[in-house]
Amino acid sequence: MAKKLYIKSYGCQMNVYDSERMADVLAPLGYAPTDQPDNADMVILNTCHIREKAAEKVYSELGRLKNLRAARGNSEMIIAVAGCVAQAEGEEILRRAPYVDMVFGPQTYHRLPEMVAQGHRSRGAVLDTEFPVESKFDHLPAPAVPSEPTAFVTIQEGCDRFCTFCVVPYTRGAEFSRPVGQVVEEVRRLAGNGVREITLLGQNVNAYHGAATDNEDWGLGKLVVELAQIDGLERIRYTTSYPADMDDELITAHGQVAKLMPFLHLPVQSGSDRVLEAMNRRHTADGYRRLVERLRAVRPDLALSSDFIVGFPGETDADFDATLALVGDIEFAQAYSFKYSPRPGTPAAAHGRQISDSVKSERLTALQDLLNQQQMSFNEKCVGGTVPVLFDRPGRHPGQIVGRSPYMQAVHADGPLSMLGEITEVIIDSAHGNSLGGAIVDSSGDQEQLPGKVYA
Ligand code: SAH
Ligand code: F3S
Repeated sequence: MAKKLYIKSYGCQMNVYDSERMADVLAPLGYAPTDQPDNADMVILNTCHIREKAAEKVYSELGRLKNLRAARGNSEMIIAVAGCVAQAEGEEILRRAPYVDMVFGPQTYHRLPEMVAQGHRSRGAVLDTEFPVESKFDHLPAPAVPSEPTAFVTIQEGCDRFCTFCVVPYTRGAEFSRPVGQVVEEVRRLAGNGVREITLLGQNVNAYHGAATDNEDWGLGKLVVELAQIDGLERIRYTTSYPADMDDELITAHGQVAKLMPFLHLPVQSGSDRVLEAMNRRHTADGYRRLVERLRAVRPDLALSSDFIVGFPGETDADFDATLALVGDIEFAQAYSFKYSPRPGTPAAAHGRQISDSVKSERLTALQDLLNQQQMSFNEKCVGGTVPVLFDRPGRHPGQIVGRSPYMQAVHADGPLSMLGEITEVIIDSAHGNSLGGAIVDSSGDQEQLPGKVYA
């Protein structure tokens, strides 16, 4: 009988990808995925260390799992902690939660079969938080046949930028790009199995420089052009980018590759040059404005998303106003914003001028109000037009299906489940904060002329 595997992913999309790959690695050992921990034989928490809150969640979840296992008469359930908390805290986890069986980082999960065997042999905890010389990608089995029309593909991992607030260079390690051939092969396989949209992932994805068979390193722009040739693949996205690494080739691709979606997540963090410098970001506020202008010159409908940190050490009211001014100039289609969270071992955590939580809260509210307004007005501009939607899941109401517009908006409409996996034109008739509503365009051809495609 198959053993049951429950994996819970926290944090970024790369963790979602890693979790799927862990399931692929464990499948030959007889583990089949389950969507709840109650009767699982193995539970993996794939953790996030980016902010303090994210990291603390792990310990409360571990406490629940301990009780669950006790309630089941301390059955053979293996409890494992993976991901960036595992990488950063290692043995500390075994000290705080001694009932944990396995702790392993993002770069060693291809060794899971050995770890399981070792756990059985020694009956003690297994810890593997090395940064091995070999790449896990050379050891992972082919991904399981996807069940959805969208998929993530990690192409780049780690980061050498060392923003002074960020743990990623410590938890994910040095920047690494997968070879072009390996990426093309993975995407081809996915497309052959019905995937219509891929999101290329990397902590600094536009620093991609994968080895190609022509003995050259290809940048992300060239890779995107190559992937766009793959039959069946309709949409390409990538995330997350570092502004200073947007090169000419990639900007040009936004103007020339129709499959590259007109949506870009480009974290700016702050609109103050003083703060940007203290963050070691290597771009200025005006540099960011100019970059966005260049992108919009080649792709006028490009929708932008971003990340912001408020209350970085030393941030003054004037610095914060500069952030609001930048947001006002760019007009984002959506964004994420966070209070600065000091992370152990990062330079900014040791900075003498930490900002109080009440000031951080005030600034966060003001920024989010502005960003929410911009998101709402971006969505409102879509009403009355049609957008192609890739439907990928059933909606909450019976008869409803949900998908994404090219601009990453969730779009819901009434339609049959048989339309999942298809790209269909939808006339947008309502806008909400986080989604659009619409009606699927009848493709039988006997209706009146449709309104032109909106480029909001
Ligand atoms: N390039 C990375 C970005 C790192 S984390 C990626 O893969 O997405 C995502 C966002 O979290 C960052 O852009 C930043 O806005 C935020 N963040 C990172 N460290 C933070 C910290 N110490 N406190 C608050 N927010 C942080
Ligand atoms: Fe982190 Fe900056 Fe790299 S935010 S992931 S160190 S680009």
